[in-house]
Amino acid sequence: MRMIAAVDENWGLGKNGDLLTSIPEDMRFFRQTTQGKALVMGSKTLRSFPNAKPLPGRLNIVMTRQKDARFPGCVVCDGMDSLLAFLAGFAPDDVMVIGGGGIYTQLLPYCTEALITKMRFNGEADTFLPDLDSLPEWSVAEESEQKEHDGIKFSFLTYKNSAVKPLGYSAAPLSTDMSSYFKNNKTIELECFDTENQAYKAELKALLNAFFYPLGNGVSANEVKAFLENEPAVSFESYLRKKRLIAARADIEALAEKYANDSAGSRRVTLEKGQPNELYS
Ligand SMILES: NC(=O)c1ccc[n+]([C@@H]2O[C@H](COP(=O)([O-])OP(=O)(O)OC[C@H]3O[C@@H](n4cnc5c(N)ncnc54)[C@H](OP(=O)(O)O)[C@@H]3O)[C@@H](O)[C@H]2O)c1
Repeated sequence: MRMIAAVDENWGLGKNGDLLTSIPEDMRFFRQTTQGKALVMGSKTLRSFPNAKPLPGRLNIVMTRQKDARFPGCVVCDGMDSLLAFLAGFAPDDVMVIGGGGIYTQLLPYCTEALITKMRFNGEADTFLPDLDSLPEWSVAEESEQKEHDGIKFSFLTYKNSAVKPLGYSAAPLSTDMSSYFKNNKTIELECFDTENQAYKAELKALLNAFFYPLGNGVSANEVKAFLENEPAVSFESYLRKKRLIAARADIEALAEKYANDSAGSRRVTLEKGQPNELYS
């Protein structure tokens, strides 16, 4: 796994629950680098996002010690043990640690790389990342040219860890890119077959909810533990699909196909997020 952070000249990360500053090129870099990945964050970092909503197009894994906590659209882990067991089921390149201070510090030993945006100013932070320059196992592998925004000089650095701690063995198959499930899907066009089939309607409703609102009210830490205990040979993606917590466009199209009934005739309909429809409301 890798970590990504933007720091000031004192390795400061944030102040009063917010970022120190926001540089558009750095925000773009963050968005591009984390697309489609599984992101690990502390509950305070989630709360620092607009309306405390998860980042779209990515699997948001939130750390909290509050038992039974749920965050809409997120997966929760309530301790390092279950988090590390859970992450062992993902391809290392698919996981990124995105903060804040405590989470970076705890997961640093497991990271192969740290993508650091160094900003040359003093943001008088109250939350910090360990100074990687002072840790013997971390060294700079790449550094971009110096850039400037609003009078703040900054550059992108890649640090590498020469003593990566292994996550341990996982029996579960590795994850695939899950970004498509977490896109902000607003509509789906479907070939629908006029049917009064209640089983079709119930299945369609479950799939559409999973498609428009991936993970729904969220997956709790206890559910993650149950997944790890009971489904050791199943990828998290298949588990979520089976539970109808995520759905792909193709799943919904395949369902319509399954219930195709030529004699009843068909019509093309556009189903919209938040708009109940006679087909599934
Ligand atoms: N510059 C950057 O790149 C960057 C990146 C991310 C964040 N930030 C900034 O950093 C600040 C937030 O960071 P933070 O260090 O205060 O908070 P944080 O790391 O985002 O969240 C801390 C919370 O994570 C949970 N947690 C931590 N360790 C845990 C463990 N082992 N098991 C279960 N839960 C655990 C606890 O949640 P509960 O209290 O719910 O139990 C804890 O209060 C904000 O200012 C934010 O803007 C900056």
